[in-house]
This record gives sequence, structure tokens and C-alpha cells, in this order.
Amino acid sequence: MNTNSPYSEKVMKYFQNPKNIGEIDDPDGRAKEGSPACGDMVQLYLKVDEDSLEITDIKFRSYGCASNIATGSIITEMAKGKTVEEAKEITWQQAADELGGLPKVKMHCSV
Ligand code: FES
Repeated sequence: MNTNSPYSEKVMKYFQNPKNIGEIDDPDGRAKEGSPACGDMVQLYLKVDEDSLEITDIKFRSYGCASNIATGSIITEMAKGKTVEEAKEITWQQAADELGGLPKVKMHCSV
């Protein structure tokens, strides 16, 4: 964490330069989830190779905060190239750890 922000440098990097933002035309899967804690929302789009079942493309749209956008970026980076079953094993804690931690009050954003 730096002294001016409750966020790690990695969170700020992924918030300011998010990865895999957008939508996929004709996705193989899509999901929409909202946070009861704050009312924000995330939409996720997947393309999956039908032979290997690996995620070949993954994008998200966030209507959330810096933590949410950074988590969406890191999770989509972690999931790309994995099978859908492998990607399901990624936890919010792993994502938060990968980001160098999140402020306690912002943990719900990664969930
Ligand atoms: Fe709503 Fe972070 S996603 S406060």
C-alpha cells in the first residue's frame, strides 16, 4: 500500500489500465452479478474452445468501484487459458491476494 491510497499499487494499475474490458459478440457464456452490499454490478462474457474447453476469450463490464474493476481485470487474466472447470476454482481471496490485498471494507467488491 502507498501512503496516499488505501489501494495497493497493483490495484491502482489494474484500475487505471483495466484488462479485458468490454463485451464479446456471440459469447458461449455470459453472467451478470450484483453486490447486495453496494448495488454495483458486473457482467461477464466467455468464449470457450469446444474441444479443449479452455477459455479463449473473456471480457467484463463493471459498474463498480476501483476494487471491483481491478478484481475483474485480474480474474479475467487468471481465467484466460484455463478450462471452465479450472476457472471456477479461482477464489475471490486468490484474486485479492494477486492484487496485493484489498482494504477490508472493499473485500465485498472482489467477491
Ligand atoms: Fe460497489 Fe466496490 S463494487 S463499492
